[in-house]
Amino acid sequence: MTEREQELIKLAEEEVEKNKEVVEHDPYRLHYHLMPPVGLLNDPNGFIQWNGTYHLFYQWMPFKTGHGAKFWGHYSSEDLVNWKHKPIALAPSEWFEKNGCYSGSAIEHDGKLVLFYTGNVKDTDGNRETYQCMAVSEDGLTFNKKGPVVNLPEGYTAHFRDPKVWKKDSEWYMVVGAQSEELTGKVALLKSVDLTEWQHLGAIAGSGMNGLGDFGYMWECPDLFELDGVDVLVASPQGLKAEGMKYQNVYQAGYFIGKLDYGRASFEHGDFMELDRGFEFYAPQTTLDQKGRRLMVGWMGVPEQDEDKHPTIAHKWIHALTLPRELHLVDGKLLQVPVEELVNLRKTALVAVNDIKLSDEKEEVFFEERSAAFEMVLSFKRDVASFELDMSDTVRFTFDASVSVFSLYRKSFVTGEWETRSCRLQALTELRAYVDTSSLEVFLNGGEEVFTARIFPDGPDAAGITVSGAGTIAELNVWGIDA
Ligand code: FRU
Repeated sequence: MTEREQELIKLAEEEVEKNKEVVEHDPYRLHYHLMPPVGLLNDPNGFIQWNGTYHLFYQWMPFKTGHGAKFWGHYSSEDLVNWKHKPIALAPSEWFEKNGCYSGSAIEHDGKLVLFYTGNVKDTDGNRETYQCMAVSEDGLTFNKKGPVVNLPEGYTAHFRDPKVWKKDSEWYMVVGAQSEELTGKVALLKSVDLTEWQHLGAIAGSGMNGLGDFGYMWECPDLFELDGVDVLVASPQGLKAEGMKYQNVYQAGYFIGKLDYGRASFEHGDFMELDRGFEFYAPQTTLDQKGRRLMVGWMGVPEQDEDKHPTIAHKWIHALTLPRELHLVDGKLLQVPVEELVNLRKTALVAVNDIKLSDEKEEVFFEERSAAFEMVLSFKRDVASFELDMSDTVRFTFDASVSVFSLYRKSFVTGEWETRSCRLQALTELRAYVDTSSLEVFLNGGEEVFTARIFPDGPDAAGITVSGAGTIAELNVWGIDA
């Protein structure tokens, strides 16, 4: 480790110590989500199960609640439920990464844990340079930086970052989020036999390609994987305009289903589908675990979307990661299901009722005790024509079968006014919500649609919910989570 690296790590650790009290006294501090110990967290990075242990790194700015020269923070877990915060994995100490160890991924090779990430460099005039770098670990704790392995290929601006690496047969492939010289968003594909020499094969997807029209000026954080016989490309495009219920956030995160022709380096794909219909979700990353599951974690935030207005800033921290979700492919669509291990979070039963006939009058469902962190599962009979659920005066869900629309309303943490996100939904059969002190993740119909949002209720614990509408709740269960 260089002296500069040691020094940066020490400064970051001091920052954590110095602010511990103020951070931990935030009533909005989450109970069972991964957060930065101080400062700003953004993308999940290097998600992998290595030697049985899950590792999840994250983009981290320890010194302020804004963006800047990022570190890689590190969490690990044996079970995807209990996570331990580990020593800093990467600090932006070297010339090739001096303005940030930006996002990237992890693989296992020869028993080692290998990271690929973007070295972000800016000169005093703000000109950018980008290097895709490698770092190797034998113990999963300390990382030996190998420096740049990919320089910027021709045809792109320096907005070229976020390498995701995987193995296909005996060769390694990498997708990188990119901007072409024409200022359009792209995903570049590279190939290597030894992980150190990389050949650029070309752009495989992007704005103006494969039948897409204008589709943004930059695509970030690509991920490409096989699932049930198809290839899925996940990406976070920037520069899409809102279109009806779609693309409501400042930047988007979604996927294409298609087939990657590795020989020709071409990817034929269908439409772009958003992964999440809520307010805060961006830059997700997946991994294949040792049980063969394709798991995904996202950032519960969106760049430049009122980041400076988050109430947690008063307590010197901002943002969190989503819960891990297992992906399935059903009828050409990705379903997201909270990983089964999360049932271990359930502690006390707060509600268990059957057969609630909904009416226009709001029915109160009280919890056994007040709770700030809980899981709520409602299953419905096939007869739901309309439904409304209100929670903590800050959140409301509505479903209207006559127009096939489901909506999430929340009180804006900027204006205090109600704001909404919606999607098409033919029928409402199941609603599963994970509520934490200041976050919400809602999975509809076994993961057909997902809404993720930060919420800031006046008092972070709830005494119950109210339900109304037309139809029947077959079962309603709420479990308190005291992680
Ligand atoms: C996405 C992103 C990435 C970049 C990282 C920097 O949120 O902008 O493209 O690598 O964040 O923190």
